Amino acid sequence: MAEIADIGRDPVRGGYSRHLLDDADLALRAWFRSSAAALGLEVEQDGNGNLWAWWGPRAAGAIATGSHLDSVPGGGAYDGPLGVASALEAVAQLQASGFEPVRPIVVVAFGEEEGSRFGLPCFGSRLMVGASDPAVVLARADRDGVTLEEAWRGAGLDPATVGADPSRVAELTAFVELHVEQGVDLEHREMPLAVASAIIPHGRWRLTVDGEGNHAGTTPMVGRHDPVVALAEVILAVRDTAVAAGPGARATIGRVAVTPNGTNVIASRAEAWLDIRAAADDDVRAQLADTLARAEMLVTAEGCTLTVVEESFSPIVTFDETLTDRIAGVLGGVPAIPTGAGHDAGILAPHVPSAMIFVRNPTGVSHAPGEGARDEDCEAGAAALADVLRELAS
Ligand code: GLV
Ligand code: MN
Ligand code: MN
Ligand code: MN
Repeated sequence: MAEIADIGRDPVRGGYSRHLLDDADLALRAWFRSSAAALGLEVEQDGNGNLWAWWGPRAAGAIATGSHLDSVPGGGAYDGPLGVASALEAVAQLQASGFEPVRPIVVVAFGEEEGSRFGLPCFGSRLMVGASDPAVVLARADRDGVTLEEAWRGAGLDPATVGADPSRVAELTAFVELHVEQGVDLEHREMPLAVASAIIPHGRWRLTVDGEGNHAGTTPMVGRHDPVVALAEVILAVRDTAVAAGPGARATIGRVAVTPNGTNVIASRAEAWLDIRAAADDDVRAQLADTLARAEMLVTAEGCTLTVVEESFSPIVTFDETLTDRIAGVLGGVPAIPTGAGHDAGILAPHVPSAMIFVRNPTGVSHAPGEGARDEDCEAGAAALADVLRELAS
């Protein structure tokens, strides 16, 4: 973790901004390749930009472990990289102990788990399992209007390789992702480690409010069709709908864009990305329906129009019970806790027995520079992962 501590620091918010195929991402990929090579692992990049480092020849029956190296804008140091660094450290410890795996062990770094550049969360794993249409994904644009296809070619990659990779998925017999906890459950329990029981369902929707651009000084207040005002009302409705839905419901607008974004200009368009999460798939859908019904009314009352596009939907994930129980046993009877955060392990879970190990986070803060984990807990996590790999690969 110290080796990558200077890569991709965010000069504005603090923390890290590491996004698919940007300079920071490329530097992290180079670090991954050299760290894995130093352990004698064979590194390859798949058609979806995921990196795989094989201990032993690439073969079926593999035990995969790892996470992602990208971050949200201004994110913490641990969300993602801790799982990759711990996987490499676990392999190093197993090698030092003289362990010889019967099944191949492969360390993976999935691309763009946060979906911060192209909007699609768990980009690399989602494409690999065939859960997203590559043609649609390649046409996605980042904030600067660069399409994924252009970014892909710019990095010297072939867009034709993007898409489902069933033979690679079929090679895996288990996937274990270690991750910093994104809550304070373990801090409250005074325990360093847990396994994950489930991931609550979540989705992303892009809301576009179109109005009438005009002059800030010459246009009377009455009769304006200001999409920023309409969006402001929608944002309050998003919050109020989630609060009304009960304590398990979450709704967030954390990303907005105004066109043309001028001080003395009534905007012509305001966009927002809506993130909704709840205990059950139907609860997410019901909360969305309530939110959009209110949004439609509010936007229409301002004389504007609303367009809604579903960007992604991730149904509830229940992790493989047999694998999870086995890991909890190796770890000495740790708790199994659900999480409100998305993970590549959740995307793989319907296809490959998957499980997660959480490392205590003293404040529970995540997706922000204040995210943390104690060194001794990270060391306990890597050692526990080594024990788990020894058990699974024997
Ligand atoms: C990823 O961390 C997410 O839950 O959005
Ligand atoms: Mn995250
Ligand atoms: Mn993560
Ligand atoms: Mn003027």
